[in-house]
Amino acid sequence: MDRHESFWIGTSDSPSFPTLDHDVQVDVAVVGAGIVGAMAATFLKQAGKTVAVIEAARVLQGVTGHTTAKVTSLHTLIYDDLINRFGEDKARLYAESNQAAIGIIAQLCEERGLECELTETSAYTYTVKDDYVAKIEQEVTAAQRLGLPAGYHDEVALPYPVKAAVGFAKQLEFHPRKFLAPLLSAIPGDGSHVFEGARVIDIEEGSPCRVSTRGGHTVTADDVVVATNIPIINKGLFFARAEPSRGYALAMDVPEERVPDGMFINVGAPTHSVRRAPFGDRTVLILAGEGHHTGEGGNHREHWDRLEAWARKDLGATEVAYRWSTQDYYSLDRVPFIGRMTPGASHLYTATGFSAWGMTNGVVAGRLLADLVTDTPNAWAELYDPNRINVKSLPSFVRKGGHDAKRLVGDRLKSGFDADQPNAVAAGAGAVFDVNGDKVAVHRDDEGALHAVSATCTHLGCIVSWNDAERSWDCPCHGSRFSATGAVLQGPAATPLEPREI
Ligand SMILES: Cc1cc2nc3c(=O)[nH]c(=O)nc-3n(C[C@H](O)[C@H](O)[C@H](O)COP(=O)(O)OP(=O)(O)OC[C@H]3O[C@@H](n4cnc5c(N)ncnc54)[C@H](O)[C@@H]3O)c2cc1C
Ligand code: FES
Repeated sequence: MDRHESFWIGTSDSPSFPTLDHDVQVDVAVVGAGIVGAMAATFLKQAGKTVAVIEAARVLQGVTGHTTAKVTSLHTLIYDDLINRFGEDKARLYAESNQAAIGIIAQLCEERGLECELTETSAYTYTVKDDYVAKIEQEVTAAQRLGLPAGYHDEVALPYPVKAAVGFAKQLEFHPRKFLAPLLSAIPGDGSHVFEGARVIDIEEGSPCRVSTRGGHTVTADDVVVATNIPIINKGLFFARAEPSRGYALAMDVPEERVPDGMFINVGAPTHSVRRAPFGDRTVLILAGEGHHTGEGGNHREHWDRLEAWARKDLGATEVAYRWSTQDYYSLDRVPFIGRMTPGASHLYTATGFSAWGMTNGVVAGRLLADLVTDTPNAWAELYDPNRINVKSLPSFVRKGGHDAKRLVGDRLKSGFDADQPNAVAAGAGAVFDVNGDKVAVHRDDEGALHAVSATCTHLGCIVSWNDAERSWDCPCHGSRFSATGAVLQGPAATPLEPREI
């Protein structure tokens, strides 16, 4: 029987930190302990700042604990597109900053003796279809122009033929929690802290800034870094500039002689991302893909089934050891938003929109945010400025606005919903009902008890839908997720779904 748990969480110890049971004052409050929070806190402490990392749940159990952890600047196909959208100078900054992140990770591992299964390898984006060959050729040309270690390949170390591939040499793979946990453990002391179980519900910018938590305690700080994957406050409207997409992952056994040498991702849909990882005395394949807009996945479990069937057929994978799923936000102009939250915000910073490439972009974010807070010049700032406007990307913003408006208004007017009677909801299932105009989300647990909560998302009021793979209520507008009983799992929402009687 496979484990429904992230491979990375299942194969590493979880460091634990105290809850916030008193008010605290520091130089910088860092909200969220994923790769961005951990890296920002590390660099800020190195720069002599006192920091408080405030985590709603447990550290490194968000997206960072559920990634596939390829550490590469080869982000499927991006460089030809970036040159077209932003020009060559900015595309080069993207390339250089992500390559620099690889170097930062390697350097930290060496300096601090981090044992995180760090392995140098090549990364490939390939196609099995003639249609994408020209795009691969353009990407190789663009990447080489930007100084990246890129080459063209017509075969790669996969057990099926490819038409073309772009490969980057000297990239890395690692165990993300084994890399980041020691960094977080080094934060407490000399006026700095890490807190778990402290959900932030409000952030007030001022002198000082005030960060309020659900438990009633406050952190005051000169500056606040909001590192919650998508900001949990609406300043800057990042939820309208980045799209949430869920992806599915498996760790699968494969005969040793069939383990492919390198990290691979294909162009086009469905995406299949492949790497390997040590697991005890053997090696497993880490597979991810089958992405879809959050809240719109249909029968979610089928995504795992399709991924597994593909890995068995094309890679010779055998048993599933771990299965998990997660989501990330895709920036509409393809470049993450890293910096001051709004043009007028001088003490509020954030980072989001990593488009499923946050291992390097998260390190870029940590470095850049620490430099901005400490007024240290950083050449990457203008590219990642959250307040930029990229005219060539406007059609994507219009499409997203249309999608969200349709979900917000259309779903409210819809009647009938998922089933006729709450009593008809099967064990383990969930459905939304219209009860005299009030949309109610009903779940039946394995013991047969019904749980009813408002189906209206506490972020901006869209109607949530049932995710049968994770047993959660997911919002199709901006990706907030709630447990079967309404607790917040993922932002931008910060407050639970209201209980309902049925
Ligand atoms: C399927 C998939 C595969 C991926 N594979 C790769 C890959 O191979 N390589 C790569 O580079 N990238 C990959 N990524 C992307 C990468 O994993 C993410 O971009 C990155 O982990 C995001 O880190 P983060 O710090 O922004 O978010 P998180 O790790 O989610 O950290 C945010 C933290 O904030 C906390 N938080 C949220 N709300 C609050 C609140 N109100 N108060 C306090 N704390 C709060 C959360 O609990 C969480 O711990 C993948 C993404 C997906 C979806
Ligand atoms: S996440 Fe914005 S309305 Fe639900």
